[in-house]
Amino acid sequence: MDFTNQRVIVTGAGSGIGKATALKFAQLGALVAIADVNGDAAKEVAELAGSNAFAVVVDVSNSADVQAMAAAVVQRLGGIDVLCNNAGFGSLGTVADIEESDWDRLMSVNLKGVFLCSKYCLPELIKSGDGRIVNTSSYTAAVGIQNRAAYVASKGGVSALTRAMALDHIDEGVRVNAVAPGTINSPYFDKIVNQSTNSQAVLDELNGRAPMHRMGRPEEIAEAILWLASKESSFATGSVLTVDGGTSTW
Ligand SMILES: NC(=O)c1ccc[n+]([C@@H]2O[C@H](COP(=O)([O-])OP(=O)(O)OC[C@H]3O[C@@H](n4cnc5c(N)ncnc54)[C@H](O)[C@@H]3O)[C@@H](O)[C@H]2O)c1
Repeated sequence: MDFTNQRVIVTGAGSGIGKATALKFAQLGALVAIADVNGDAAKEVAELAGSNAFAVVVDVSNSADVQAMAAAVVQRLGGIDVLCNNAGFGSLGTVADIEESDWDRLMSVNLKGVFLCSKYCLPELIKSGDGRIVNTSSYTAAVGIQNRAAYVASKGGVSALTRAMALDHIDEGVRVNAVAPGTINSPYFDKIVNQSTNSQAVLDELNGRAPMHRMGRPEEIAEAILWLASKESSFATGSVLTVDGGTSTW
């Protein structure tokens, strides 16, 4: 895959899957906006990625921030060819015990964030003539898992929005796809494991979710995101590509 001079935004690029994705884009010649609410993390990744990358601080749930991000990228790069809507977070809880405010916050980042970033980048993606959006959903959107009700619902929305947008913008030359990762060993899970009183049991449970008996690596999801963003996937739109070590087929 070759992304030479392709103008790419990756949200949530300060850590985990987004970081691995941004670094791979940069390796393959793209000009990459490392967009994250954590400015220090974004700057660190931009330094690692090299001179073709730069950091942008953005809260994807905030419309003004997102509009400023799109404007900053256009000012710096002259346009946008690829948008990776990856920023998001997980949370525990059933409908019975999730607080309304926690539900709203999660939806505003995981789902509204995809809407806002897509909305304000679309004019440039259409101008590009070959615009591509790749959203990060989750395998849980298709199968459901216990005690993650808000998270699963938000990712169900991301998968559905991916299909709706793919059809809405097909005649404007914009392809919209999503990756649905299984359990990936990102800093998000490091925190959960380290905070637990029985770290080994938590680790065993996470590794045991997949028939491969291990978590995925952020780089293994980055490869799928890059393929969906590449010319090689030119006939794919509205696809939700599951990359989960077999978890959802078990
Ligand atoms: N790790 C997994 O097992 C897994 C599985 C399926 C899907 N996902 C999804 O993959 C994506 C990346 O997750 P990860 O595991 O790499 O997590 P991570 O916590 O390592 O990275 C997420 C990044 O998003 C940023 N972020 C959070 N809220 C933001 C906001 N409002 N605006 C901008 N940036 C924000 C964080 O600062 C962080 O840098 C998320 O959408 C997550 O739901 C993860």
